[in-house]
Amino acid sequence: MVLAGLVMILGGLGCQAEKKKITLGFSQIGAESEWRTANTKSIEEAAKTAGIELKFSDAQQKQENQIKAIRSFIAQKVDVIAFSPVVETGWEPVLREAKAAKIPVILTDRAVDTKDETLWATFIGSDFVEEGRRAAKWLVEKMKDHQGAVNIVELQGTVGSAPAIDRKKGFEEILKDKPDFKIIRSQTGDFTRAKGKEVMEAFLKAEGKNIHVLYAHNDDMAIGAIQAIEEAGLRPGKDILIISIDAVKGAFEAMMAGKLNVTVECSPLLGPQLMSAVSDLMAGKALPKRIVTEESVFPMETAAQEFPKRKY
Ligand code: AHR
Repeated sequence: MVLAGLVMILGGLGCQAEKKKITLGFSQIGAESEWRTANTKSIEEAAKTAGIELKFSDAQQKQENQIKAIRSFIAQKVDVIAFSPVVETGWEPVLREAKAAKIPVILTDRAVDTKDETLWATFIGSDFVEEGRRAAKWLVEKMKDHQGAVNIVELQGTVGSAPAIDRKKGFEEILKDKPDFKIIRSQTGDFTRAKGKEVMEAFLKAEGKNIHVLYAHNDDMAIGAIQAIEEAGLRPGKDILIISIDAVKGAFEAMMAGKLNVTVECSPLLGPQLMSAVSDLMAGKALPKRIVTEESVFPMETAAQEFPKRKY
């Protein structure tokens, strides 16, 4: 009897030892936008809920810091590495190091441009090309009765980043056989409010009242640009139509104030999907190579009704 009890106790302890906490190393881009802050919060909360130990590193928009963080996660022998790559290229060497150390890598939010797709396990995030298409489709529909040229200025995201490349591509794809729609100026605002305002000021200085539409690759740049438009004595949302991407609360406030016309959703709430992918990987389950987030489009007319439901 005593021996049987001892065996059970030892067996129980063995099980606990086997259930070692999973460690996830996550390299975040920075805190450049309302979207990014919500993304970080979602990842931290989901890790807590899933009982996963999160080693979090903020790269302050620098690829070199992300590479350093990934190398440090490898040295610490974490179970899984995840990261949102600030730009698309330049990742092969460090990803090969993770592979050699047998640490699986998950991409969240943004993709990498690598020939060897075995360097990462899965990519969880939005379809940025589709977001660009949705933005342009909304514009074409909105301007269907307009006669003559539609002059568009574009505030691009971070140079070389997947959302900047893809949102431009999707937008232009829809407009390519519509000669009246012209992108007359296009420049990066680095996904920040301050840069969005600064570049919009320059656009207004160069073009004056010649601008009909602003297409901003994210809400933060659109919000910065709204300020520039008002300071130039024009009415954002009326004199200049404004289209942006993300659907953060700040965009809904701007829409309810009549200053932003539409926002295309890009969800930052990737934490729960990331944690379940991490747990699945550790349980030896196969993951789909691509996990796409489901998203909508919110024109200003829907803002007041949708605002109370927004989680970010
Ligand atoms: O990668 C997603 C983009 O990055 C969001 O649209 C933008 O706001 C963020 O900074």
